[in-house]
Formats: sequence, C-alpha cells, structure tokens
Amino acid sequence: MKFGYAHMNTAAGERSTPTAQFNRPAVSGKISALRQSAFERQIPTADDETLNFLITLLSAYQPENILELGTAIGISGATMLDICKTAHLITVERDSAFFAEAAENFSALGFSERVTQLCGDAGEVIDALETEFDFIFLDCAKVQYIKYLPRLKNLLKSGGVLLADDVLLFGWLTGETPVPDKRKMLYTHIKEYVDAVTADKDLTTTIINLGDGLALSVKK
Ligand SMILES: C[S@@+](CC[C@H](N)C(=O)[O-])C[C@H]1O[C@@H](n2cnc3c(N)ncnc32)[C@H](O)[C@@H]1O
Repeated sequence: MKFGYAHMNTAAGERSTPTAQFNRPAVSGKISALRQSAFERQIPTADDETLNFLITLLSAYQPENILELGTAIGISGATMLDICKTAHLITVERDSAFFAEAAENFSALGFSERVTQLCGDAGEVIDALETEFDFIFLDCAKVQYIKYLPRLKNLLKSGGVLLADDVLLFGWLTGETPVPDKRKMLYTHIKEYVDAVTADKDLTTTIINLGDGLALSVKK
C-alpha cells in the first residue's frame, strides 16, 4: 500500500508534508506545553501546519465572534483567543472528560471570561444557537460536516469565514492514497462536503493542502 505524505502526525505534531518544515506554529509556552502533553497522551489536536495556518489567518482577520465545533482539551480554542485579544469563543465538545479538561486549561490560561463552553452534540448545539459568527472552525465529527453545512452558513455573517479541518483525509480525496474499504462512508461524506462548498454560490472556497487538508470558505 502506498502511503501519501499527508499521513503521519509525529509525536511533535508535525506531519510529513513537503511544507511541514516551514509551517511551525509560534504559540505561547503554556499552550506549547499543553500541545506536547496532548501528543504524548494521543489526545486529538491540530497538527503544526494546521495550527500555523489558523494563527496566520486569524492574525490578519481578527474575528470578534468565534464558533468552534470540537474543543478537545481547548488547544486550538486557546490559540485563537491568544491571537484575537478581544474575541469571544463559543466552543462545543461532546466528551465530558475533554470538556472538563478544557475548562481547566482555559482557566489556567486566563481565558475563562472570553469562552463559553458547551458540552453536547455539535449538531444539536448549532440548531439552538442564535448568535452570528465571523469565524467558524469546524473540527469535530467529519461524517457530519455535510449535514452541518446549511446551518453553519446561516450562522455565518456575510464576509465571515468557515474553516473546516481534515478535508483531504490522508490523501484519499486527492487520490494519493487509496480509501480503505472500511472508511468509504467517511470518504463519501467528506467528498460531499468538499463538492458542496466548492460549488456553493453563496461561498468562495479554497481547498488547501496543508496538514490533513483545509477547506477555507468565505460567505458572500
Ligand atoms: C480533532 S478533535 C478537536 C481538536 C481541537 N479543535 C484542537 O485542535 O485542539 C475533535 C473533537 O470533536 C469531538 N467531537 C466529535 N464528534 C462530536 C460531535 N458530534 N459533537 C461535539 N463534539 C464532537 C471529539 O470528542 C474531539 O474531542
């Protein structure tokens, strides 16, 4: 079986992509220590390239109202708050242990007052939200991305940005690596998402081959 370069996340969070050597995120010492702990404990968190892209984008864009689906232990959320000094973050996580650990981390980093953590299923939470957002980071159940899309479009302000992580799935979508039989459903749903955002007349979208693939969509 051929393994594509977009396959491995090393213990240090670096994927073996051609650009990974250049795309290292500059995060604060405390967030860096949290990332290292997450990699060692195999807790999911954005790889170097993805986090570096997020930092670069938000350094320029500076959104005020951020929604994140998929908190894990709060590393990407804390990074966004560190970059966007006056922003408020609503972040959603269904795993109660991750939710609790994220709360501790946000508190230790001094971000508690700028975070609303919601524990529950992202699909149910977004249906109940009434706020509009200028940035949404979609980083939870990948099979559900396509189902969430219409609601996320409604929650996004005009000119707002929707960033979806992991859309190239180990090189499956680009054809660099074959899709394992057991993962065909996941592949199909993510392909539907990529096809939908790239064809959507309300969105301008670029698919970015960094980390495990990002879909960057701007609402017209
Ligand atoms: C890739 S991790 C998030 C990593 C985090 N954004 C970061 O970079 O530090 C995805 C998280 O989404 C959560 N998750 C998966 N499906 C979910 C759902 N339907 N609703 C809410 N959270 C979900 C998982 O428990 C997991 O913690």
